Amino acid sequence: MELDRVVPFGRSLDEYVQMFNLTERDLQRSILGVGDGPASFNAEGTKLGYQIQSIDPLYEFSAAQIRSRFEAVVCNIIEQVRRTPNDWVWGYHGSPDGLKLNRERAIELFCQDYELGKATGRYTIAALPELTLDRTYDLGLCSHLLFLYSDHLDEAFHFAGICAMLRVCREVRIFPLLTLNLQPSPYLSILLKRFSKMGYTCEIQKVAYELQRGGNKMLKITQP
Ligand SMILES: C[S@@+](CC[C@H](N)C(=O)[O-])C[C@H]1O[C@@H](n2cnc3c(N)ncnc32)[C@H](O)[C@@H]1O
Repeated sequence: MELDRVVPFGRSLDEYVQMFNLTERDLQRSILGVGDGPASFNAEGTKLGYQIQSIDPLYEFSAAQIRSRFEAVVCNIIEQVRRTPNDWVWGYHGSPDGLKLNRERAIELFCQDYELGKATGRYTIAALPELTLDRTYDLGLCSHLLFLYSDHLDEAFHFAGICAMLRVCREVRIFPLLTLNLQPSPYLSILLKRFSKMGYTCEIQKVAYELQRGGNKMLKITQP
C-alpha cells in the first residue's frame, strides 16, 4: 500500500452505531471491522468491553506515519467538501468544521490506542479481496470501502471481497451503498441477485446516518 494514495479518514464508534444500525446486542457479538483504517471504533469499543478486531493494509504503517498523512490531506478534503455544499447533509456533523473536528477526534483516539491494539492483535494487516484469518466472527462490518470506491474496485473485487468476509463472518454489513459521485454503486443490484441465489439473505436497511446526500442505506447479508 502506498500511503500517499490513502485518505486516512476515520469514523467514531457512534458513527459506526448509526451507519450499521448496531444495537447493544450486536455490539456484544464478536466483530470484524474490515478496512477500519484510523476509525476510533475499535479504540472506543474496546474500552467499553466489546470484542473488535480491525483489519486494514494501512496497519503496516506507524501511528506517526498515518497521522502525518492525515494532516497532509485533511484541509484540502474539507475545502473540497466546502466547495460542494449540495452534496452533503449536516444533521450529524453540523458543518465542514464539525466534520474536521470529528475526524481529528477519531484519529487521535485511534493513535492513542494503536500500539497497544497492534501488540494485542486488535489491529492486523490484511486486505480484501482475500482474508486469511484463523478465526470466525459473528459480525463483519465494512465502512466506506466497498461500493464507495466502485470506480476503482471492480465487480469481481466486490464479489470476492464479500465472499471472503462471509467465509469468516456469520453476518456482513456494508455502508454506504453510494459511490464517491453519490450514485448508487453499479454493482449493488447484481451482487444482491448473486448472493440471494447462493442462499444468503440480503436486506437493504435505512440508517439514521447520512453525510453524503442520499447515502443513508446499509446492506446486510446473513448466512443461510
Ligand atoms: C475511507 S477509509 C474508511 C475507514 C473506516 N472504515 C471508517 O469508515 O472510518 C477506507 C479504508 O479502507 C482501507 N483499504 C483500502 N484498500 C483496502 C483493502 N483492499 N482491504 C481492506 N481495506 C482497505 C484503507 O486503508 C482505509 O483505511
